[in-house]
Amino acid sequence: MSALTETFPLNSGTTIPKVGFGTWLLEEGDECYGAVRAALDAGYRHIDTARAYHNEASVGRAVRDSGIPRDEIFVTSKVPAEAKSHEAAVEQFDISMREIGLDYLDLLLIHAPWPWGERGKDCREENKEVWRAMEGFVADGRVRTIGVSNFSRADLDSLLPACTITPAVDQIRWFIGLDVAVNVADCTEHGIVVEAHSPFAHGRIVNHPDLVDMGRRYGVSAPQLSIRYLLQKDAVPLPKATSPEHIRANAEVDFEISDDDMATLGALRDTASQPGA
Ligand SMILES: NC(=O)c1ccc[n+]([C@@H]2O[C@H](COP(=O)([O-])OP(=O)(O)OC[C@H]3O[C@@H](n4cnc5c(N)ncnc54)[C@H](OP(=O)(O)O)[C@@H]3O)[C@@H](O)[C@H]2O)c1
Repeated sequence: MSALTETFPLNSGTTIPKVGFGTWLLEEGDECYGAVRAALDAGYRHIDTARAYHNEASVGRAVRDSGIPRDEIFVTSKVPAEAKSHEAAVEQFDISMREIGLDYLDLLLIHAPWPWGERGKDCREENKEVWRAMEGFVADGRVRTIGVSNFSRADLDSLLPACTITPAVDQIRWFIGLDVAVNVADCTEHGIVVEAHSPFAHGRIVNHPDLVDMGRRYGVSAPQLSIRYLLQKDAVPLPKATSPEHIRANAEVDFEISDDDMATLGALRDTASQPGA
């Protein structure tokens, strides 16, 4: 079995493929459609989109046209970070479902605890309202599993007591060089799976000299090493790529990083700002 088809169990009673294909910045139309079709052809069975990416229609069309049974593909979307009321969440989710054209989503996330233009704003009560709306989407069968994204330990701790359904996932920024230990420990304590978005720091670490050097020893690239590192941390990496070569290469991650090398990678810091990175 390859990493692309292996799964982690979720607290919702279902499973999630261990590697997801990211679609942020893939343009609606040929670019996104072509990339998602290429990813599905390469063996990815998990696609990550969002209302905010404005490409749900292409994602849905690629999934439908792939010929792969719907229940073999895991599809995630997100309620926009700006939708901070029950009404807004319902309105945005209805648009997502119309755009994507699928009967159900496997996973729906609150995109961020605060609107992007107001990072850090206290939206604790608003997030509880949004969560209640999302519990309704599970009850009416349009979503299988719900979770959050970019939630810190404090954000999670304020939401959890209000939940009838516990979040199954927290999708956070995580790449080699970023210290997310506190957040990950909190998720683990609550049985929440961590998804790693931006696993290459938006491409900034794909040529990092330390990763390139270590990768060479395993016969892999820095991006492949990055994906494998996150898998061995029990996270779900969400690599994004546009180029078919990158899409295929990122699917080849069936190797094992030694404990010593995992420790070395875990101790790296500031990788995204290194010269040459
Ligand atoms: N929840 C959130 O708030 C949030 C935020 C950010 C991202 N995400 C999710 O996480 C996904 C990934 O994050 P991201 O889009 O920020 O970027 P990323 O995956 O960290 O990096 C993507 C960049 O790396 C390049 N790349 C990919 N594979 C490569 C390879 N094998 N060799 C060399 N370069 C390679 C891509 O180039 P090409 O495209 O040219 O191939 C692209 O420029 C997103 O698409 C999205 O689904 C979620």
